[in-house]
Amino acid sequence: MTADRTNIEGKVIVITGASSGLGEAAARYLAECGALVVLGARRVQRIDALAAEITRAGGQALAIATDVTDAAQVQRLVDAAVERHGRIDVMLNNAGLMPHSPLERRKIDDWDRMIDVNIKGVLYGIAAALPHMQRQRSGHIINVSSVAGHKVRAGGSVYSATKHAVRALSEGLRQEVKPYNIRTTIISPGVVTSELPNTASDPDVAANIRKMYEDIGIPADSFARAVAFAIEQPDEVDVNEILFRPTRQEF
Ligand SMILES: NC(=O)c1ccc[n+]([C@@H]2O[C@H](COP(=O)([O-])OP(=O)(O)OC[C@H]3O[C@@H](n4cnc5c(N)ncnc54)[C@H](OP(=O)(O)O)[C@@H]3O)[C@@H](O)[C@H]2O)c1
Repeated sequence: MTADRTNIEGKVIVITGASSGLGEAAARYLAECGALVVLGARRVQRIDALAAEITRAGGQALAIATDVTDAAQVQRLVDAAVERHGRIDVMLNNAGLMPHSPLERRKIDDWDRMIDVNIKGVLYGIAAALPHMQRQRSGHIINVSSVAGHKVRAGGSVYSATKHAVRALSEGLRQEVKPYNIRTTIISPGVVTSELPNTASDPDVAANIRKMYEDIGIPADSFARAVAFAIEQPDEVDVNEILFRPTRQEF
């Protein structure tokens, strides 16, 4: 896999949810492009192993145990990047989960977790990165939404609501950070192979989602290339939204 390294090389990129799936693929790809990646997730052994792999391959990576539902931990992640490298160029708010279920099943714990991780986690990432980027007068905040942030399907209402929220927050942020020369991007993937189907807590729902992912899922490097595309643009070019799907995906 190759990418245009222009405007990626040397950038300090913080990635939440870097322990699997899309975040892991983005970390690997951006590190290959010469970015200095700072990895956050709860499964610290996974991000430690990924950081070691990137370092062995000649890249630079730092792993920090991070639960994005705790604003202080997200701040610690971002501050660690700034302490190590003196700046933060990109904040990739990627951590998320998708425990689908019809509302009538009243899976209130799942609803709370989705709101805490998919919405509040993104807000905590913005809160942690923004003061550094305002001071630098540069930066790039990339928030991960979904096709479900554009469309609603029965059984996925709460997930969809969180991903619509990510798009609303990102558009408001885009307008607000104009004076600081900060770029903002929403990335909305379709079905991309990852561990996301495992986050469904109802076995019948999980089985259906798993089947769909097996049938039409595309590799996670599709996401990594989308992230790289947004970052590698010249500084005066702000790619605000990317929506991509498997060619075979109907929804
Ligand atoms: N795959 C798709 O088809 C698809 C489509 C549209 C959007 N997305 C979005 O893409 C993002 C990444 O998902 P994925 O598909 O790569 O799924 P995944 O393989 O399950 O990865 C999810 C990541 O989020 C992290 N995470 C979950 N809860 C967390 C918490 N409380 N604190 C910190 N990290 C947390 C996980 O790390 P730990 O468990 O180690 O903390 C993991 O690294 C999500 O926002 C998802 O909604 C995915």
